[in-house]
Amino acid sequence: MLMVIVLIVIVVGSVALGIWNPWAFPEIASNWGGIDLTVNITFVVTGIVFVLVSLFLIYCVWKFRYREDNRADYEPENERLEFWLTMVTTVGVVAMLAPGLLVWEDYVNVPDDAREVEVVASQWRWAYRFPGADGKLGTVHARNMSFDNPFGMNDNDPNGEDDVLVQSPHLYVPLNQPIKVLLRSTDVLHDFMVPDIRAKMDSVPGMITYFWFEPTKLGEYEVLCAELCGNGHYNMRGKMTIATPEDFDRWLDSHPTWAELKSGVANRPSNPVADRGREVAETNGCFACHTLDGSQTVGPTWQNLWGSTRSMSDGSSVVVDEAYLEESIREPNAKVVEGFPAAMIPYALSAEDMAALIEYIRFETSPQDDA
Ligand code: CUA
Repeated sequence: MLMVIVLIVIVVGSVALGIWNPWAFPEIASNWGGIDLTVNITFVVTGIVFVLVSLFLIYCVWKFRYREDNRADYEPENERLEFWLTMVTTVGVVAMLAPGLLVWEDYVNVPDDAREVEVVASQWRWAYRFPGADGKLGTVHARNMSFDNPFGMNDNDPNGEDDVLVQSPHLYVPLNQPIKVLLRSTDVLHDFMVPDIRAKMDSVPGMITYFWFEPTKLGEYEVLCAELCGNGHYNMRGKMTIATPEDFDRWLDSHPTWAELKSGVANRPSNPVADRGREVAETNGCFACHTLDGSQTVGPTWQNLWGSTRSMSDGSSVVVDEAYLEESIREPNAKVVEGFPAAMIPYALSAEDMAALIEYIRFETSPQDDA
């Protein structure tokens, strides 16, 4: 009898939690109400099945409870029962899946007036690319990718010259403008997800995936990676701001085009030791955790690092110089920057590589070199 009461409490509690759900979706910020509807249909169908199966279980626990003179029946087949169970299950599964197919067709059927944005996923950060005034994205290829060409732009494609490159995980989109999101990955499987617009899609190495949405509510929303993509996965986050068209244009204008990025690279003063240090940083994977543009990934950013004063987790502060950098590379947990986990592994670089890497950080991140 106790088990019957426990089961009834579980069923009533589960249904109550389903109805007064404290983890309900946030208010929707896109046109994808149809996705909410399919989620709710699945919730109702599985909820009804859960209640019916549980009631049957409770009935059996009570009806067939232990009694001295009970004898079990043996009934291996019951065609009528099997027929009805198969029919009811089929109807339930179709009711759950069919609406999803209809919404999916809409989800990948992009309206003609959609504006394109490309989402580039890599371990463990997001970057974005918009077509320039010509409305066309230039072609890209993984073999073109380098430190100076982070998007792998094809230099022989004139369509790419005016593409706007956003090397920050914070994306803006204009209100009430259909957006076609093109996704690619530079390394492993990721998944671009914005819960508030009810949209997500895998980004798959070697192919372009896409979906579309129309932003309907101004605000700042969270971008997540919804696919386990390595040990920095938890930190692969970003923001999506749905902005007025004026704010969006201002934001877009503040980012360089591919042509501008190239000329910046070409006019950079030459420093062979720093170039060597940059290779050391690339081959040792420093940029998987540290950025140059101020955005935070796994570790502290290197933007304006050299000569700056940084707070440590033990309450002390440190001026970033050669000695501090060398110690932090050889023995990362000697001093840990406030707000970051002691997650870095020690690197045993040769004296020459160490000197080159430190020269690179000095050259690249001194505030006076920034202008
Ligand atoms: Cu990228 Cu998880």
